[in-house]
Amino acid sequence: MHRDPHLPKQSSNADLMARRRAALPAGLGQTYEVFAARAEGSEIWDVEGKRYIDFAGGIAVLNTGHRHPKIVEAVKAQLDRYHHTCFQVVAYEPYVELAERLIAKTPGPFAKKAYFLSSGAEAVENAVKIARAATQRQAVIAFGGGFHGRTLLGMALTGKVAPYKAGFGPFPAEIYHAEFPNPLHGISVADAMRSLEHIFKYDVEPARVAAIILEPVQGEGGFYVAPPEFAQALRKLCDQHGIVLIADEVQTGAGRTGTWLACEQWGVAPDLVTMAKSMAGGFPISAVIGKAEIMDKPLPGGLGGTYAGNPLACAAALAVLDVFEEEQLLERSLAIGQQLFAGLRALAQQHVEIQDVRGLGSMVAIELFKNGDTQQPDADLTKRVCAEAIKRGLVLLSCGVYANVIRILVPITVSDALLKEGLVLLGDALAAAKS
Ligand SMILES: Cc1ncc(COP(=O)(O)O)c(C=O)c1O
Repeated sequence: MHRDPHLPKQSSNADLMARRRAALPAGLGQTYEVFAARAEGSEIWDVEGKRYIDFAGGIAVLNTGHRHPKIVEAVKAQLDRYHHTCFQVVAYEPYVELAERLIAKTPGPFAKKAYFLSSGAEAVENAVKIARAATQRQAVIAFGGGFHGRTLLGMALTGKVAPYKAGFGPFPAEIYHAEFPNPLHGISVADAMRSLEHIFKYDVEPARVAAIILEPVQGEGGFYVAPPEFAQALRKLCDQHGIVLIADEVQTGAGRTGTWLACEQWGVAPDLVTMAKSMAGGFPISAVIGKAEIMDKPLPGGLGGTYAGNPLACAAALAVLDVFEEEQLLERSLAIGQQLFAGLRALAQQHVEIQDVRGLGSMVAIELFKNGDTQQPDADLTKRVCAEAIKRGLVLLSCGVYANVIRILVPITVSDALLKEGLVLLGDALAAAKS
């Protein structure tokens, strides 16, 4: 265990947990009983001075790492100019520049527009609002295992009941779930397309469907990758019926999959894209980017928000774009992905429980099964691996409809040495969790 001798001992994790339990509701989950004191790059130090390698990146928010100097500098400079005017009242250039630069990076041979909100769920809600306004239709189709946020519409679109939806209904009407391709669990692309036909036959006619929304790689759902042929089939279906295709890139965006947006790898373009998380390296901002003729449909005043597109977050997001170019982080994302695949495949050779190593770019996961039997997802082992990892100084995240997936969202700026060290700790945690 590495301790930082320079850190004053502020309080213990146990003391802070006791205060947290007394003051905060149980529904606000916390994966580890750890409180951060400081963080840098791909490392976090807790209030007791213990050091961790961060393989979670604040749930896909830190592709550029903790406190990247260029981002910190840009935010400090913005703080010295102004930090809030409300864009809809008195506007500011960084917002417009960010929209221009994100539009230039979004696929699709058509004119585009972009605007900003504060959270991923808000971006998803806005994309659906725009699709409904543009089509004058109501229904939305999402996918089983998908995750789109914790607001009422976000929950309705989310395809996993516990813990996201349980007890929170009724949900907004006219939301339907199709199957997401998942060969490991017996769902082919053809099955997924057939499930859409079933919705059109059993639930709602395509002429009433405003949008189909999908994650290019399901994040919370388990890092299942939508094959390009699936995206292409959806594009065709949407074109046939005048449906808006929305790519929810809140988790996949900002270089995680080796391209700025994962949908660049589809060979077809969505009409609308949502982004959040790593687009501003930890400052709260989200985006809807898409076809201008669709984006312009809501009436003036129908879109926006008091904090939406905050100047500090815009400055951070512009710095993130610069850092990606200067440090060639897309190439780095692919290289990290290769190292993760190699390291995790080597672990799979030693542990029969790992039955799948999958992902796109540096968005990589392993899926665990009892005795390697793919009929028996092993959520308990997954939990134990995470618990053993944190003891050893590695922050890991689990996910998956069956809670048996360990996902890696390490900063793309991570050094080879830290990445290697983290993989060794993951191997140690797995071995300890099995014994
Ligand atoms: C694909 C996707 N959409 C939407 C959200 C919701 O984002 P937020 O938590 O910022 O509201 C998430 C969060 O994990 C996500 O992964």
